[in-house]
Amino acid sequence: MSNVMLEVKDLTTKYITRFGEDIYAVDHVSLKVEDGKSLGIAGESGCGKSTLALSLMGYYFPPLHYTGGEITIDGRNITGMNPDDVRKSVLGTEIAYIPQSAMNALNPTRKIIHFIEDVFEAHNPLATKKEIYDIAKGFFETVGLPAEVLQKYPVELSGGMKQRTVIAISVILSPTVLIADEPSSALDVTSQKMVIKMLRSLMNNGYVKSMIFITHELPLLYNVTDDIMVMYAGQIVEKASAKEAVFDPLHPYSRGLMGSIIVPEEGLRDVRLTAIPGVPPNLKNPPAGCRFAERCLYVRPLCTTHPVRLREIAGGRTYRCILSEEELREAYKNG
Ligand SMILES: Nc1ncnc2c1ncn2[C@@H]1O[C@H](COP(=O)(O)OP(=O)(O)OP(=O)(O)O)[C@@H](O)[C@H]1O
Ligand SMILES: [Mg+2]
Repeated sequence: MSNVMLEVKDLTTKYITRFGEDIYAVDHVSLKVEDGKSLGIAGESGCGKSTLALSLMGYYFPPLHYTGGEITIDGRNITGMNPDDVRKSVLGTEIAYIPQSAMNALNPTRKIIHFIEDVFEAHNPLATKKEIYDIAKGFFETVGLPAEVLQKYPVELSGGMKQRTVIAISVILSPTVLIADEPSSALDVTSQKMVIKMLRSLMNNGYVKSMIFITHELPLLYNVTDDIMVMYAGQIVEKASAKEAVFDPLHPYSRGLMGSIIVPEEGLRDVRLTAIPGVPPNLKNPPAGCRFAERCLYVRPLCTTHPVRLREIAGGRTYRCILSEEELREAYKNG
């Protein structure tokens, strides 16, 4: 068995609008998540985080189209599989995806246990209702949710409880990869912490083998994931350990996302982030050069004319910039 739970190589996907326009939302993205590890994906609204999540599940429906790359889950290549097979043999078991705002999309007329029965009907149709209830009860209690929740309607649960319930439903079949898309964004700080604690404990106890946590708040990922990937306009601009990405970001965009933190160890959560001036480029017609050039404080003439490759530096860190690590550090020192 491979130690790599999810491997994505050069994945490129696009939306084709009803006017026939192409929107390049995921551009040559490669990533790897090993057994017991978690990856955070951060970036502004519209940078392609959710599209990447949909794309790496191999589950394509118009207007989203696959254009290239490979996806392997625990050694099994799922590239090019038809959506029906993906639904039957990948989703829920290999990859569990918790979509953005999933907790608000629960059908209000059904009890929580009914959502769990649906999961079993799709993947283990021979299980009886009693068996499903017993498994669900045991699992909910293990993850710190009272069994009474199973008999409740979504509207009877608080926001935090609803989100933790959605997570529990999603991982009840112990997926290889869990993708949580902005799982804590709509919650108050206390509920946020509980959701994060639950996700970490699911990982630590082996209920999920690996995790991708998507957020627009880069600092939030520190203490939550092992590694962080920063996306900008459909591309990876930086990949590093969580500590490096948060406390020592190299790419000017990652730095912008971290705002003006000077002494990060103290009060990291209290620091208000400064917005990066300007807006991301239109993905219908992305710039020929660096996609961040127009907003970059350190832009050089070459940046706007030449596409920029990801470069790898010591420790397996990567970033997408024509400036060397030394040049960037020098530039940051001078403000
Ligand atoms: N169904 C669609 N049809 C056409 N374009 C789309 C569609 N869904 C998303 N897009 C475009 O694809 C790009 C990436 O969107 P995506 O939703 O993946 O971003 P995101 O990083 O998840 O943003 P957010 O933080 O707001 O959730 C955006 O430019 C968006 O406008
Ligand atoms: Mg999104």
